[in-house]
Amino acid sequence: MRIIIVGAAGDIGQAARKELEQRHEIITVGRSGGDYQVDVGDMIAVKSLYETVGAFDAVVACAGDAKFAALADMDQETFMVGLRQKVMGQVNLVLAGLDVIADSGSFTLTSGVLDRDPIRMGANAATANGALAGFVKSAAIEMTRGLRVNVVSPGMLDVSAPRYGAWFQGHKPVPSHDVGLAYAKCVEGALTGQVVIVE
Ligand SMILES: NC(=O)c1ccc[n+]([C@@H]2O[C@H](COP(=O)([O-])OP(=O)(O)OC[C@H]3O[C@@H](n4cnc5c(N)ncnc54)[C@H](OP(=O)(O)O)[C@@H]3O)[C@@H](O)[C@H]2O)c1
Repeated sequence: MRIIIVGAAGDIGQAARKELEQRHEIITVGRSGGDYQVDVGDMIAVKSLYETVGAFDAVVACAGDAKFAALADMDQETFMVGLRQKVMGQVNLVLAGLDVIADSGSFTLTSGVLDRDPIRMGANAATANGALAGFVKSAAIEMTRGLRVNVVSPGMLDVSAPRYGAWFQGHKPVPSHDVGLAYAKCVEGALTGQVVIVE
């Protein structure tokens, strides 16, 4: 398969890539690095990315900022960071890809643990995660041509503990290898409309 990984240089993107590159051609995409650059929050740029890349069989989205801040310090604008980037960035990749991805292709998105196991300052990310779960469940039943869509929802990765561990006290870090396998299951398996939890 020819697989586009958006956010391929990140902790999650590297875990997905390490597993999938053993069997597939990988096209890496980032905001500033990778084979191609895009801001997933910009729908015109996402459409242009697909035109430039040409034929592809799967999209793995591992990109999407959210704002970590105390609830009392959030306003609409700060809250919109996660909705624009983490939710709409990934939804854009699906919407723009519907007509151009190969038959039986798949979209695999990324959410995270925070909507089922919250931490302080995590309300924006948790909201984005819940929205993505609703999106894949609903979008899957309308997809044609054998297309599929799922979202991987990992706990904090082992490799991310130095960056995020202080916020996730008491959380068990998830092996990156297990996270990579979840992306392989979504891309190479038959699941659709699922939240694939890795913890
Ligand atoms: N790490 C964890 O433990 C963990 C656990 C559960 C869920 N998550 C979620 O998974 C996602 C990725 O996390 P991560 O830790 O792997 O992030 P990361 O290490 O910071 O990497 C993010 C990657 O996404 C790219 N990116 C960011 N914004 C983008 C945009 N607007 N358009 C295109 N590419 C963009 C970056 O590209 P450049 O490098 O070129 O800037 C980078 O390659 C986040 O939504 C995060 O909340 C992470």
